[in-house]
Amino acid sequence: MNKEIEITIDHLTKDGVGVSRLENGKNLYVANCFSNEKLLVTIDYEGKKQVYGHIKKVLVSNPSRVNPKCDVYYSCGGCHLSFMSYDAQLKFKQEIVKKIYEKAGFNNIIVHETIGMDYPYEYRNKVQTPVKLKKGKIVAGFYKENSHDVVPFNFCYVQSKQSNEIIKKVLLAMNENKIPPYDEDKKTGVIRHLLIRESDTETMLVLVTYKDSFPGRKNFVNSIRKYLPNLTTIVQNVNTRHTNVILGEKENILYGKGYIVDTLLGYTYKISPKSFYQINKIQTQKLYQKAIELASLSKDDVILDAYCGIGTIGLSAAKYVKQVVGVEIVKDAIKDAKMNAKNNHLDNCMFYCEDASKFMCDNLNKFDVVFVDPPRKGCDLPFLEALIKQKPKRIVYISCNPETQASNLSYLVEHGYTFKDIYPFDMFPQSYHVESICVLKRK
Ligand SMILES: C[S@@+](CC[C@H](N)C(=O)[O-])C[C@H]1O[C@@H](n2cnc3c(N)ncnc32)[C@H](O)[C@@H]1O
Repeated sequence: MNKEIEITIDHLTKDGVGVSRLENGKNLYVANCFSNEKLLVTIDYEGKKQVYGHIKKVLVSNPSRVNPKCDVYYSCGGCHLSFMSYDAQLKFKQEIVKKIYEKAGFNNIIVHETIGMDYPYEYRNKVQTPVKLKKGKIVAGFYKENSHDVVPFNFCYVQSKQSNEIIKKVLLAMNENKIPPYDEDKKTGVIRHLLIRESDTETMLVLVTYKDSFPGRKNFVNSIRKYLPNLTTIVQNVNTRHTNVILGEKENILYGKGYIVDTLLGYTYKISPKSFYQINKIQTQKLYQKAIELASLSKDDVILDAYCGIGTIGLSAAKYVKQVVGVEIVKDAIKDAKMNAKNNHLDNCMFYCEDASKFMCDNLNKFDVVFVDPPRKGCDLPFLEALIKQKPKRIVYISCNPETQASNLSYLVEHGYTFKDIYPFDMFPQSYHVESICVLKRK
């Protein structure tokens, strides 16, 4: 039998994992707990410095502890904080952002309360599930953390009712048409992932396949359409690579127009299977409104939307300024951004497909305001160096990783910028992820 011990949790990591210092000097890590809770823990693994365990019994519980709605919560690992009431999740995220900024040396900034959702479920407009054969049955689910083991679910509460239904019906159509899931060990089979993207009026299903052509494809698509008449488009994405990257290069449109259209802050957006699009529409609108408010735009401003995706931030700001320039590395996203500008009759916007750092180094023309919304790794040094050379009056920095944001902000503060507060946004309720936004002004 594994060893059991009684401990008190000292603090939580930024990923929401409880830490307790053991008498032997090692740190014990336990998921699904609060600071100061007293727990009976079963030890799963003991290393030289770190020990991992799981809760056997909560001995002294935090009043904000709740029962997660999801029946695979403890095995799936997709949601990390569902054991906390939603208010406690928002407080946790505010504190994490505060701690990260303090660690980066920003002790005097204000970290505002996390801006949350009224209903923190069913918010994802994009779902990607691997499809596997498990004990002879075709299943879809999410990968258990740090593994390739798929945990199937009956109902995933962070995705819409419709997308839960779509997954069930596609598996039914696979069974009916004898379409096998991909087997990553044997490198055989067909369906690797299902990707669903939804807007208020349209729904796209992307079948990620190992092979380009496969027997029964036509009947399979007909079955899907019979079961799911609300799908507006079905796309096949072919991924023959043996990596963790979900989407391949090649696409075949099997039904409909191959993309969906969504509306954000009154503008319509074309969204292709590969384009980045924020997954939580309600929170995205609040985030962009805050970004525009913080930017204090005026009619003479020329603005840059760096890492612009399909152009959503720049286009939302276009009516307040003289000109918008957007830069993004994904070709399809820039194609969408140009089309989005045209469809929304915004003729003061230009978009470039390029590495943002290269673009910044090559274009030393002046931007009055720069919106920066990089991927998790943040902006690299060439980008930041070029940014400070351009001397924009204001930089609005949006990030899904407060650690890289704090590090980038340290550099900008050392080079003539100042900021006083940060707004955390809950774009991903139930998970430990937090988005944060702030404005930097030139001293
Ligand atoms: C967090 S998303 C933001 C997208 C957009 N601002 C939005 O709100 O939808 C980051 C974007 O940066 C793009 N990206 C990643 N690396 C890049 C690079 N080196 N240069 C330009 N864009 C990049 C990604 O393709 C993605 O669209």
